[in-house]
Amino acid sequence: MKIVVIGGTGLIGSKLVNKLREHGHEAVPASPNTGVNTLTGEGLAEVLQGASVVVDVSNSPSFDEAIAMNFFTTATRNLLQYEKAAGVKHHVALSVVGTDRLAETKPSDAEKTIRGYFRAKLAQEKLIAESSIPFSIVHATQFFEFVKSIADAASDGTTVRLAPVLIQPMAADDVAAAVGRVAVGAPANGIVEVGGPQQFRLDEFVLEGLRARNDPRTVIADPAAGYFGVEVDERALVPGKDARLGETRFKTWLSQSAKPLAPSAENTVATSR
Ligand SMILES: NC(=O)c1ccc[n+]([C@@H]2O[C@H](COP(=O)([O-])OP(=O)(O)OC[C@H]3O[C@@H](n4cnc5c(N)ncnc54)[C@H](OP(=O)(O)O)[C@@H]3O)[C@@H](O)[C@H]2O)c1
Repeated sequence: MKIVVIGGTGLIGSKLVNKLREHGHEAVPASPNTGVNTLTGEGLAEVLQGASVVVDVSNSPSFDEAIAMNFFTTATRNLLQYEKAAGVKHHVALSVVGTDRLAETKPSDAEKTIRGYFRAKLAQEKLIAESSIPFSIVHATQFFEFVKSIADAASDGTTVRLAPVLIQPMAADDVAAAVGRVAVGAPANGIVEVGGPQQFRLDEFVLEGLRARNDPRTVIADPAAGYFGVEVDERALVPGKDARLGETRFKTWLSQSAKPLAPSAENTVATSR
């Protein structure tokens, strides 16, 4: 089966291309680096020739609402139009667990909010659902690989403030495997949720990730801090009970991907409630 992976040079995309090839499929990575641009349409007609499935794991260059909205709506409109002309039978897109909830949150700090990014992801999902092409939207939880970005966005000097809400993160490898299974299956014409094997408190997850890299920042559980500056309910980031779960545990992933664990007495979880 010819499967075109839009964003096939990115974190998830490159893993997905490898996994599909291991299973005998003709997986073609498509991105500006390979001469395909979904914003301009460059290279799309050529790469989609003979494709049965298109998987979109591309990402906006910024969380800024205007940039992300333009990226996801323009790229998705172009992609769906070219797919229709090429006779593509299944459009798969990767999005985020709780996108609808996060798109509606109240920003606690307008400078830092990523609510606009989730509005853009929601607009992408709406375009896909309204098109005539059979589709599957995979909602994944936060990638383990994203832990430093969460910490950085919540940092003020050496202090990281995060709401102690629940999170069920997963390894990018498991995300790619789940997206691959969806891509070769029948279209769900709806959302498929995938998540990690364990739930954490957001502050504890970030602390564990920082400690594994000998990062001395202090992590404070602060209900007012939210997640990227948006107020979130305790369960806003976690999937429902029917989610398909990845196998890789955070500790295992850390031991394989981060610098070795080292004692770090400076790292503490404090609570301000
Ligand atoms: N981070 C998380 O925790 C999380 C959780 C759930 C879901 N997601 C979703 O996962 C998806 C993939 O994330 P990722 O971290 O794998 O992304 P990434 O590593 O940043 O890769 C982005 C990809 O998009 C491609 N791209 C950028 N502009 C493009 C354009 N105009 N036309 C075609 N391709 C373009 C890039 O191509 P070049 O290499 O050529 O620049 C690259 O291959 C995103 O949609 C995100 O919403 C993320």
